[in-house]
Amino acid sequence: MNLGKFEKYTLTFGPTPIEALPRLSAHLGGDVALYAKREDCNSGLAFGGNKVRKMEYIIPDAIKSGADTLVTIGGVQSNHTRQVAAIAAKIGMKCRLVQESWVPFNDAVYDRVGNILMSRVMGAEIELVDEGFDIGIRESWEAALEDVKAKGGKPYPIPAGASVHKYGGLGFVGFAEEVRAQEAELGFKFDYIVVCTVTGSTHAGMVVGFAADGRADKVVGIDASATPEQTRAQVLAIAEKTADLVELEGGISDADITLINDYAYPAYGVPSDETNDAIRLAGRMEGMMTDPVYEGKSMQGMIDLVKKGYFPKGSKVLYAHLGGVPAINAYSYLYRNG
Ligand SMILES: Cc1ncc(COP(=O)(O)O)c(C=O)c1O
Repeated sequence: MNLGKFEKYTLTFGPTPIEALPRLSAHLGGDVALYAKREDCNSGLAFGGNKVRKMEYIIPDAIKSGADTLVTIGGVQSNHTRQVAAIAAKIGMKCRLVQESWVPFNDAVYDRVGNILMSRVMGAEIELVDEGFDIGIRESWEAALEDVKAKGGKPYPIPAGASVHKYGGLGFVGFAEEVRAQEAELGFKFDYIVVCTVTGSTHAGMVVGFAADGRADKVVGIDASATPEQTRAQVLAIAEKTADLVELEGGISDADITLINDYAYPAYGVPSDETNDAIRLAGRMEGMMTDPVYEGKSMQGMIDLVKKGYFPKGSKVLYAHLGGVPAINAYSYLYRNG
């Protein structure tokens, strides 16, 4: 496998910390040792998160293309668009964001606080579009690319979640390499890695990275899209392409993808009572905040899987905390009493 041949533009602080979650592990019976790798603390760019690691492999291509505007898309409270807005500011490009109505949730200030607030402050041009959730290529985004061109700009296209971009999977191949180096220092290996999956390139990159030491199917994706067939197909397609890019021996097959569909209900972006219980439990046991759209659902999944005995006794489980907490501000009514 060869990741080193790809150019990388540093946007993160460096390797993200791995911390033990001893109180949560003990609370869940103590048979499984839980750890978190803190991608939510990976960068000073407007609270960071998983897109920053992906973008480190995309920005060199954007700069080479001669573009002056990064153009991307997400929901109203998209973490991805906020991270792209921050990166555009940092590298001195303009930013055009299409933000669709992906989430059927209407807190009074849903379109004013959290991620979208920060994107506005950082100078992104934002267009709100009344279209529902879809992780695929969107007409509204293609129209924005054309509009930037029509106004004399040079757009650089970044699809939702930076996922179906040709280099979208590379960042999380690097995550796996980083975990291997950290395991050598810790003196043990993780048996499972838990990750929240929606547009797919985080999970796909990890699958390729961990395939290098036989752990591809130990990456447990917790679907938060509520459209799991589309998400699973996208994870597999990105993993296959990324495996080709880094010349992974043996490639990737469907059997390498573990995606659990049980926790995305009732809808993308809407937390269930069980999601909210998981958010509170991680907060109260470890002071670790998660959000109602993504990480709260993967936290809910991990907690439930521990309770169900999915992980054999003695397992060490690494929870990839991918960021996303700014969005919780848009759900203030749900948490008005904690
Ligand atoms: C906080 C957070 N967690 C998880 C994900 C899912 O990652 P991916 O879209 O690469 O599947 C995202 C973005 O979609 C996110 O912002």
